[in-house]
Amino acid sequence: MRRHLPYCTSSFLGLLPFWILCTSSTNKCTVRHEVADCSHLKLTYIPDDLPFNITVLNLTHNQLRGLPPANFTRYSQLTVLDGGFNSISKLEPELCQNLPMLKVLSLQHNELSQLSDKMFMFCVNLTELHLMSNSIHKIQNNPFKKQKNLIKLDLSHNSLSSTKLGTQLQLENLQELLLTNNKIKALRSEELDFLGKSSLQKLELSSNQIKEFSPGCFHAIGKLFGLFLNNVQLGPSLAENLCLELSNTSIQNLSLSNIQLNRITNMTFFGLKQTSLTMLDLSHNSLNVIGNNSFVWLPHLKYFFLEYNNIQHLSSYSFYGLSNLRYLNLKRSFTKQSISLTSLPKIDDLSFQWLKCLEFLNMEENNIPGTKSNMFTGLINLKYLSLSNTFTSLKTLTNETFLSLAYSPLLILNLTKNQISKIESGAFFWLGHLKVLDLGLNQIEQEITGEEWRGLENIFEIYLSYNKYLRLTSSSFALVPGLQRLMLRRVALKNVDISPSPFHPLRNLTILDLSNNNMANINDGMLEGLEKLEILDLQHNNLARFWKLANPGGPVHFLKGLSHLHILNLESNGFDEIPVEAFKDLFELKSINLGLNNLNIFPPSVFDDQVSLKSLNLQKNLITSIEKNVFGPAFKNLSNLDMSFNPFDCTCESIAWFVNWINKTHTNISELSTHYLCNTPPRYHGFPVMLFDTSPCKDSAPFELLFMINTSVLLIFVFAVLLIHFEGWRITFYWNVSVHRVLGFKELEGQPEMFEYSAYIIHAHRDRDWVWEHFSSMEEKDQSLKFCLEERDFEAGVLGLEAIVNSIKRSRKIVFVVTEHLLKDPLCKRFKVHHAVQQAIEQNLDSIILIFLEDIPDYKLNHALCLRRGMFKSHCILNWPVQKERINAFHHKLRVALGSRNSVH
Ligand SMILES: *[C@@H]1O[C@H](CO)[C@@H](O)[C@H](O)[C@H]1NC(C)=O
Ligand SMILES: *[C@@H]1O[C@H](CO)[C@@H](O)[C@H](O)[C@H]1NC(C)=O
Ligand SMILES: *[C@@H]1O[C@H](CO)[C@@H](O)[C@H](O)[C@H]1NC(C)=O
Ligand SMILES: *[C@@H]1O[C@H](CO)[C@@H](O)[C@H](O)[C@H]1NC(C)=O
Ligand SMILES: *[C@@H]1O[C@H](CO)[C@@H](O)[C@H](O)[C@H]1NC(C)=O
Ligand SMILES: *[C@@H]1O[C@H](CO)[C@@H](O)[C@H](O)[C@H]1NC(C)=O
Ligand SMILES: *[C@@H]1O[C@H](CO)[C@@H](O)[C@H](O)[C@H]1NC(C)=O
Ligand SMILES: *[C@@H]1O[C@H](CO)[C@@H](O)[C@H](O)[C@H]1NC(C)=O
Repeated sequence: MRRHLPYCTSSFLGLLPFWILCTSSTNKCTVRHEVADCSHLKLTYIPDDLPFNITVLNLTHNQLRGLPPANFTRYSQLTVLDGGFNSISKLEPELCQNLPMLKVLSLQHNELSQLSDKMFMFCVNLTELHLMSNSIHKIQNNPFKKQKNLIKLDLSHNSLSSTKLGTQLQLENLQELLLTNNKIKALRSEELDFLGKSSLQKLELSSNQIKEFSPGCFHAIGKLFGLFLNNVQLGPSLAENLCLELSNTSIQNLSLSNIQLNRITNMTFFGLKQTSLTMLDLSHNSLNVIGNNSFVWLPHLKYFFLEYNNIQHLSSYSFYGLSNLRYLNLKRSFTKQSISLTSLPKIDDLSFQWLKCLEFLNMEENNIPGTKSNMFTGLINLKYLSLSNTFTSLKTLTNETFLSLAYSPLLILNLTKNQISKIESGAFFWLGHLKVLDLGLNQIEQEITGEEWRGLENIFEIYLSYNKYLRLTSSSFALVPGLQRLMLRRVALKNVDISPSPFHPLRNLTILDLSNNNMANINDGMLEGLEKLEILDLQHNNLARFWKLANPGGPVHFLKGLSHLHILNLESNGFDEIPVEAFKDLFELKSINLGLNNLNIFPPSVFDDQVSLKSLNLQKNLITSIEKNVFGPAFKNLSNLDMSFNPFDCTCESIAWFVNWINKTHTNISELSTHYLCNTPPRYHGFPVMLFDTSPCKDSAPFELLFMINTSVLLIFVFAVLLIHFEGWRITFYWNVSVHRVLGFKELEGQPEMFEYSAYIIHAHRDRDWVWEHFSSMEEKDQSLKFCLEERDFEAGVLGLEAIVNSIKRSRKIVFVVTEHLLKDPLCKRFKVHHAVQQAIEQNLDSIILIFLEDIPDYKLNHALCLRRGMFKSHCILNWPVQKERINAFHHKLRVALGSRNSVH
């Protein structure tokens, strides 16, 4: 079977033995529901392994030379056997014996040249036998004698020179005998009398070279309802002869297209007067003259085809007698050769007055000068009138142009391509039943005041597209409030932004086409209240400005309230921005076309209300990324997506979600591999989006997290190391401070009586003069200050460690007089400083004051005393000024420091 082929060939690579097994046992036919299709397989044999219960076997377009009966025994259930387009030149009678159920046998386009009596002897159940396009030139005896059930026999495109298919009555159930394109030159009764018991719906003899209808030829046939003689060069006299032969037959349908019937007189169809002919085809006849009363013999005629002729003049009696006609086709029926006025066809007033039953009249593509006041008078049943490209000078439609249709119940009027330039008030006043008015493809150039439509009380659709210039007013459609479809494409529409809107009265409007108008001015009330609108075409305008954030007054939400909108076309408007509420509440939107704009960024949730979206077109924009939070809702139920030709950015962030979606979705996206190409990054330029590998992106979230954690940890570590290295002292110091705090060492502030001294002065022995000089003088000036000076307050020699500790404890502050000497003083280094700092930690940092008499770098201070300037508040660090005039300021600062509270803030 055909579908096994790829399997077989692919197996070939690895499994050669299986491949051989495969091809030898399986043909390539497809079998579905007992129908086997073996066409186009270059078969030279009949497949012998199809299911035995198949009922249809199609063997067309192969290289079969015959249909050997034995090879069909397996398929005894066949009802349809199609052996067309092979090289079969003979058929054994036993075939039908083996196929008793066969109903349809097709052997078209083969090489059968002779049909023997026995050939179809056993094919008794056949209803259709197709033998066209063989080379059958002669039929002897009675090959179809047994085909009592045959309904259709097709022998067209052979070389038969006679209609004689048998010598005795037969084919009593035949309905269609097709003998098109043979070499039949005459119809003779003795060559048709084998059909004496048949009721032929269709005797098809087109494209033969018939030159003779011998007397009684059609009466030889049991009943003849339809005769087709297209493309037989009969001419007027043989046609008349034909009709005479058809008199008193059952003929209903007569097709005489392209028989060179260039004139019709009141005698041409005389022979048909006793018939009930209902259909007559006289198209493509170069018919020039129709004599008065020519069709008076055809009172039953319903369908009359006269298209593609060359009629000069239709007089008021040309159609006389066609009182039952329903359908008349006059497309290109009239002279077309020249535009000179003299050869323009003439249609007399009241020409159609007899056609009381006519419902459909097609007069397209003619050269008729204009309407006359009684042109269509009498067409009291006319419902459809096509006047497309019918008139040469119908520039203005006045209130009298269609006066003659006043009594016609016209439903559809087609006036396209007539170069109409103006519609005057009340032009359609007479057409109160009209539902569809097509005025497209004209040159209409005017302001639509609304009076044009006066009287169109039942109008459903007005098609005005492709005109020259239409200027609207608020009342343009006020007289046709029931209008449901309005087409205004490419009409250079002006004044649409008028208020109230021209469309305001059209509450039942379902389709509005405003496309190709280059409109740049609308207002947000333009479509207000059109709640039934389903289709809105706004493509090829200039609406970009209205969606810009920067638009004065903000974006214009011209779609708001269109709650039943299904199809929205906004292609080619230059949009480069979409406001987030552009499609808000348009829950029924099924199709959005935003193609050919300049859109790049879509606000998240812009499509959130488009839950029923089926089709989305965003082709040829500037979209780089397709993100879930924008397109997720729109893509959910989509059946068609077009985002081709966008400059996609092939990075994980931009398109990974899209590519994953493509791989899962059933949405139809055509040309995915060729029209969806990456633009950036440079290394992916021109690369198909669908091939973008998203596997690295899948892990990117955890990977990124891991990366972030790793780097953070590393950074924190590095920072900590650096911090400890450079600021470790500070950490330890503050750590100690905190620990003491937490453990409850309270500041003993507020009980100054606890302290005996204002400050304990730590200094090197060598600096004692300076200390004495400055601190004792301070004490003299300020009675509240009392310093603990080692040289003065300790008894000489009793400089015991215990005494120092006690004194420090009884001092509110500790003052370090920092000099190079202090840094070298062993006692200070080892004990005093340590103890002072300990106390400072317990009490508070403010309790230590450093006075630098010299400039000591911090590292030296740290190295010698494990102190740093950074441990203390700036007001606790004082520098002995070099300039004398600043000494007062120094004292002031020192007093402030001594008076400050002991606390860390
Ligand atoms: C018919 O069947 C015979 C034997 O089964 C086979 O040899 C022959 O090729 C077949 N002929 C056609 C035309 O299939
Ligand atoms: C025809 O035969 C196939 C198996 O060869 C079987 O699956 C199918 O049901 C049969 N059809 C009928 C209508 O019996
Ligand atoms: C057989 O197949 C051909 C081509 O595939 C097709 O045109 C023809 O209609 C088929 N015949 C029948 C009976 O289905
Ligand atoms: C004709 O077909 C019917 C079934 O439709 C069948 O019973 C009958 O046997 C067939 N006739 C012949 C002669 O095989
Ligand atoms: C046919 O027309 C001719 C004149 O063209 C007229 O003399 C004749 O009476 C008409 N015959 C019929 C049957 O109307
Ligand atoms: C057509 O309109 C003109 C005025 O424009 C008026 O005089 C005339 O009576 C109208 N004709 C019909 C048939 O209403
Ligand atoms: C009017 O006729 C033109 C030309 O035949 C056709 O294309 C158009 O569809 C017709 N309009 C209507 C409403 O049928
Ligand atoms: C609009 O349609 C409704 C329902 O089909 C109908 O009842 C109403 O009359 C229509 N309005 C106009 C102005 O024709």
